[in-house]
Parts: sequence; C-alpha cells; structure tokens
Amino acid sequence: MIHLQHVTKYYGKRLAVDDISFQIGQGEIAGFLGPNAAGKTTTMRMITGALMPTRGEIRVAGYSMMTHALKARRLIGYLPEVIPLYTDMTTRAYLEFFGRLRGLDKKRTQRRIAEVVTRCHLEDYIDVLLGKLSRGFRQRVGLAQAILHDPKVLILDEPTVGIDPIQVAQTRQLIKELGQTHTILLSTHLLPEVSMICERVIIIHQGKLVAQDRIENLSSLLKETLRLRLSVQGPEEMVAACLRQIPGVREVTYDSPCHIVECHPGREPRPLITEAIVQNGWTLLAMDAVQMSLEDIFLKLITEETGI
Ligand SMILES: Nc1ncnc2c1ncn2[C@@H]1O[C@H](COP(=O)(O)OP(=O)(O)OP(=O)(O)O)[C@@H](O)[C@H]1O
Ligand SMILES: [Mg+2]
Repeated sequence: MIHLQHVTKYYGKRLAVDDISFQIGQGEIAGFLGPNAAGKTTTMRMITGALMPTRGEIRVAGYSMMTHALKARRLIGYLPEVIPLYTDMTTRAYLEFFGRLRGLDKKRTQRRIAEVVTRCHLEDYIDVLLGKLSRGFRQRVGLAQAILHDPKVLILDEPTVGIDPIQVAQTRQLIKELGQTHTILLSTHLLPEVSMICERVIIIHQGKLVAQDRIENLSSLLKETLRLRLSVQGPEEMVAACLRQIPGVREVTYDSPCHIVECHPGREPRPLITEAIVQNGWTLLAMDAVQMSLEDIFLKLITEETGI
C-alpha cells in the first residue's frame, strides 16, 4: 500500500532522510520508530505529499506521489506532529471546514462527521470551541479530521505525545480499532507504544533505516545474546574484574546489588562463572537470565549503526 524506494531528502545541505526504502502492506499497522531528529516527520510529510523527496520514489496505493499526487492524497489521512487547530472554531465547524477542503459534499460531510465523532468519542465536545479542549481531546479532533474523508491509509505522527496516561490508553485503543480497516504508519519514540499497537516496526536513525521487522522477529534477533543478573557475596569491584576475565563475557556492569553480565552472542559462560566465583571463595546467591526488552534491541541497533 505504501512503497518507498531510495527516498532521500535534503533541507538545503542538511541530509534529513538518507536512501530509505520500505513497504507497508494493506491493512498493516507499522510503527515508525526513531530518536529525535531521526527523520520520521520528514519521511511522513513526503508520504502525504506535503514535501517532495530530493531523490527516490514514493507510491501510495499504486499512485506515484510524483505524477499522481492528487489521487494518492485522497486516499491518505494525516495527523501531523503539530495540529493546526483554529482555537475559535468548534469541533463541528472545524470538521465541516475539512470536509469542504477534502471536496466532500454537504450531505456526505454531515454523515461522516457523525461517524468520526462517534468513533473518536467526541460526542460531548462537538459544539465546544477547540481552544477550550484539553490536549488529548484536540488530538482526537486531529484524528477525526484525519479519517473524515474515509482514507485507506493513515499517517499518524506521534499521536500520543503530551497526553495523559488514561487518554493515551484510549487513543491507542482507537488506533488499534482503526487498524482493522486501515493501513497505518505511526511514528513514535515510545517503544511500549510500538509493541502495544504495531505488528511491524521500521527503525530509523540519523535519516537511515537501521531495521525493519515484525516485533517478534526483532525480539528473537538478540535472543541468542545471553544477559545474566548475578547476586554475589563478595567485593563488588573484584567480582566485576573477575567476571570480565571469563571467556564469553562481553561486558559487566554493577546495578546495585547485582552484577549484570552481557555475554557474546552464542556463548554460554555460566559454568565458568560459577566456577570462578567458588574458586575465589565468594558465594553465588543467584544467577538469572534477563529477558532483553525491545528497548535494549532498539538501543543496540542504533548504537551499533553509529559505532558508539
Ligand atoms: N523544515 C526544515 N528545515 C530544515 N531542516 C529541517 C526541517 N525539518 C526538519 N529538519 C531537520 O531534519 C532532520 C529530521 O527531522 P524530523 O523532524 O524529520 O525528525 P523526527 O524524527 O520527526 O524527530 P522528532 O522525534 O523530534 O519529531 C533534523 O535534523 C531536523 O533538524
Ligand atoms: Mg517528528
């Protein structure tokens, strides 16, 4: 449904997006993950046709953004990072305005407004001025606007930023529901959000694509890397120094009161660790394998890429 091929974007001399290619299939919810300034918003604005790539090709539902932008844009709903809301308009007036902008006739606009207001749980706020809405509700109005013309594709730029935990949960639920009938690309730098909402994740860093995979595959990527949490009765520094000498151990850190041991991929140094601790006359109180989180994987991917 969304195809990017070798997409590059320069702002003047600044390279913001560097040769990115990915595809999102129909009905898929993909998370677009990356730290600040990674190039998420820039990429999304190019997909919506708001910005032209310097190089590369973007197609939405088969339409090239270069040659058939108008046709493609009709199929796209966009929740921008900063929602340009007109504070002295009511929710209804705002949606009517967007209906006109999207070329819907009056009857269709009214029908669609009723639908999106229900869907985004805005019934009680339909005649409230936008300036009087809380941030979370403004975000919902932004979502209502994005789905007003019933687009097949939704581009949501950090839809849950700055809203409270209860509204975050409700917004995520809403996006999940929308995912049943739409193709969605959702940007975030919140990892739990990706694992909660998305089936697949596309990770970018400094304008480059660093990984794209299904969430469960990404988790298995680092499964072969063992991480251990040790509780040892012994002098903290000496224990750490001893552990660092053991073949197969990559890194040892102290997270009071435990030592965290990261092993080289495919290595199993646990017997050697037990032996070394006993030989030194210390006591091993506990040794557990620690599950790598999506966050660990994300950090590992972006730090490996830059060689930090
Ligand atoms: N209009 C612009 N003019 C010049 N440079 C820009 C412009 N917009 C973005 N940039 C630069 O492009 C790079 C990518 O920015 P972008 O906004 O796409 O990142 P992002 O991943 O959305 O970040 P964030 O998580 O902070 O929203 C940054 O270095 C940014 O400074
Ligand atoms: Mg952004």
